[in-house]
Amino acid sequence: MSNEYVVEMKNITKSFPGVKALDDVSFHLKSGQVMALLGENGAGKSTLMKILSGIYSRDAGTIRVFGNDIKGNITPKIAQELGVAIIHQELNMCSHLTVAENIFLGKEIHSKGLLKDREMLKRAHSVLDRLKIDIQPTSVVGDLAVGQQQMVEIAKALESNAKVLIMDEPTSALTSKEIEELFRIIREIKADGCGIVYISHRLEELQHIVDAVTIMRDGRYINEGVFKELTLKQIISDMVGREIKEQFPRVDTVRGNKIFSVRNLNAGRMVRDVSFEAYEGEILGIAGLMGSGRTETTRAVFGVDPKESGEIYLQGEKIEIHCPMDAIRHGLVLAPEDRKKDGLCTKLSVRENIALANLDELCEKGGIVNRKKEREIVNTAISNLKIKLPSAEVNAASLSGGNQQKVVVAKWLARNSKVVIFDEPTRGIDVAAKVEIYNIMNTLKQNGIAVIFVSSEMPEVLGIADRIVVMCDGRVTGSLKAKETTQEEILSYATMFEKKID
Ligand SMILES: Nc1ncnc2c1ncn2[C@@H]1O[C@H](COP(=O)(O)OP(=O)(O)OP(=O)(O)O)[C@@H](O)[C@H]1O
Ligand SMILES: [Mg+2]
Repeated sequence: MSNEYVVEMKNITKSFPGVKALDDVSFHLKSGQVMALLGENGAGKSTLMKILSGIYSRDAGTIRVFGNDIKGNITPKIAQELGVAIIHQELNMCSHLTVAENIFLGKEIHSKGLLKDREMLKRAHSVLDRLKIDIQPTSVVGDLAVGQQQMVEIAKALESNAKVLIMDEPTSALTSKEIEELFRIIREIKADGCGIVYISHRLEELQHIVDAVTIMRDGRYINEGVFKELTLKQIISDMVGREIKEQFPRVDTVRGNKIFSVRNLNAGRMVRDVSFEAYEGEILGIAGLMGSGRTETTRAVFGVDPKESGEIYLQGEKIEIHCPMDAIRHGLVLAPEDRKKDGLCTKLSVRENIALANLDELCEKGGIVNRKKEREIVNTAISNLKIKLPSAEVNAASLSGGNQQKVVVAKWLARNSKVVIFDEPTRGIDVAAKVEIYNIMNTLKQNGIAVIFVSSEMPEVLGIADRIVVMCDGRVTGSLKAKETTQEEILSYATMFEKKID
């Protein structure tokens, strides 16, 4: 009987200008089931779920929710009434509002025209408590780290008592502890009969949480099945349409000169006396848990945040970096972690985004952009990274999450740089595209560039970096050779907290 399904989507089709995002896609979800929705970047996962949650309308196809045919389009309000909630892939919070205000945004509790702030605070407290999240409902969301903001999004969805909960890459910014916590909550709401759609590129985590998988490729439905009856190899080859040989391609090069060093850097609470060195032709991994100060370190080095003390040397000479432009002029590049906020101008086209990072190269006398050169740089960047888009003129916002990340990386590669810092470059990127990004880092390394690779994923740091610096609580706690260390050893340094005096 079809009633066992909480969601049935059939023959769903959806086009955007120049792209057929969904072509005759089916999707089924049962109550009490965690269904993974898998596919490469741009496969159409988010689009399908945005149709279910009322953000996009479908061009064709039928949708049944709890056995009821949904005739017209689903609006966000209808979705909410149906009990469908979505946690978006990209952080979607109002950064100037508080946690509680965000949780109740659009469904504020009020009576007689007055907001019942105290009740909202109380309820926000209780949902955060249930999630065991240590965040005050009165905190301003913009002050929270990416990982914490994502936790607030989860709290927000749970507060609306959803019966179908869609999680679009919920764990991509969470620490392993937060992920365990999330899984515990998923199991609880699943036991309550909730159906959960789980989109993730972290295939290794599926085994802990997923009952079944649906696989999409290029906007089409490919396969679905019980997770335990499939091998990871089958899943990957269904996703990419071919087998992936090496997940972590390493190239060996001879390490060159010490080109870059940071000495005794202090900046704010999260960068304390940090020192490290980078060599030509080497990938330096910076490992650590979320919140260990790695992003803050890259920001301070790059001149985004002020430094309190410390020195930076490039090719043996001390350099001053007071703002990102200083850094760029010296041949430093930073591909930041939060692509939507810091990495991209989402309202500009992909061409403009790539060109912006290279304007100094592209501008001729009088500030006129050399269009031919621009085209070359843009096209090379797009094809090097196999960015999937209908044309370079589309807004960066319209790309799938993973393809946006590729633009962030791509725009810097055209530059003649000496030191390239990647902050979590593979977050939200599919298996095949990850390999492409590793290969880019490898190419830079082979070209004698010093690559600094910040990552929370230990397997990739171990697999790709040559040397690893581990941070904990704003300090460097260890320095290791990748080939001679283990995940356990990295973790032991990553959790080497100072003894706090109460
Ligand atoms: N608002 C939009 N306007 C134009 N094109 C869009 C829009 N939203 C999605 N697309 C296109 O539809 C296709 C599917 O995108 P979608 O975001 O659903 O992929 P995805 O499977 O979620 O990928 P990822 O894993 O990278 O998040 C892509 O080619 C994307 O560029
Ligand atoms: Mg997506």
